[in-house]
Amino acid sequence: MAMHRNSTSEVILNSFAEDVNDGLSSAFKNLPSKYFYDDEGSRIFQQIMALPEYYLTNCEFEILKNRSSDIFKALDFKVHFNVVELGAGDGSKTLELLKALEGAKANFTYLPVDISSEAISILKEKLQQELPTISINPMVGDYFEILKEIGSEQSPSLVLFLGSNIGNYPHSEAVELLQLVQQELKANDKLLIGFDLKKNPAIIAPAYNDASGITKAFNINLLTRINRELKADFDLDKFDFYSHYNPESGAVKSYLISLAKQEVDIGALNKKYQFEANELIYTELSKKYSLSEIEEMATNTGFVCSKHFLDSKNYFSDSLFCKEGK
Ligand code: AVI
Repeated sequence: MAMHRNSTSEVILNSFAEDVNDGLSSAFKNLPSKYFYDDEGSRIFQQIMALPEYYLTNCEFEILKNRSSDIFKALDFKVHFNVVELGAGDGSKTLELLKALEGAKANFTYLPVDISSEAISILKEKLQQELPTISINPMVGDYFEILKEIGSEQSPSLVLFLGSNIGNYPHSEAVELLQLVQQELKANDKLLIGFDLKKNPAIIAPAYNDASGITKAFNINLLTRINRELKADFDLDKFDFYSHYNPESGAVKSYLISLAKQEVDIGALNKKYQFEANELIYTELSKKYSLSEIEEMATNTGFVCSKHFLDSKNYFSDSLFCKEGK
């Protein structure tokens, strides 16, 4: 396999192969959840967002539908501004915010950013149909490259990091990510960030263990991806799925479980991996926050949390972070 050729897809394949090898060679096996999102994984994630158990989507939709004009007021932008969305996906919730901004005659440009070109072209088409008059500048690429460009622009920016994406980062990485965003933002720029809140565990647990097995399919698809892209021979029927919510730490942790003692060959790595019966592969963290943890996170990363916008059940918060002292 040509692992060292200098093209984007080869570089991605290279780090995918390395991360899979690192994770499956660890004493406690793991696979990073960022690799869930190949085209099929992104489609399964759309199905998760439509599940009755997965309350997060509806809660954030409600916030953006009902509170967008308050969000706009809180920005206090008097001139043209950019709305930069990191990980825009299909943008269906953001549409509510954009409609409200258009209704308020705000002068803005929407810059959705995603690593998936498929997601960006679907979003572009949807916006052209539903909001043909807004100015859009979609971008495919790395968040930080794009944030750097935005930092050097004249217009102030509202950066959106919605959907509880921050919850998929362990604490130290979440802090590092927000510090990097903070460094790239100009003094008056703002960050609106989605956090899933700690709540009754009986609500949270089924959101990650749905009755129809879509979340299991989402996890198993990662093995399908490894089979296809790294020429592996995972027997998908020999793996199950388990997730667990710890109400003290706020962590939902998801796992694949090996149902038998087995050996898996990964051709692209030229290596075989041994699995014990009942051995776990840790795949994903989905962290839930309290409002005080959110405020602490803002303070620790050089922001001030100026406001929380909550849904009517108090399940989810889109919190507005400003640069310190602004
Ligand atoms: C993308 N992310 C915020 C989702 C979450 O809730 O952690 C991914 C997901 N995993 C299982 N269900 C949804």
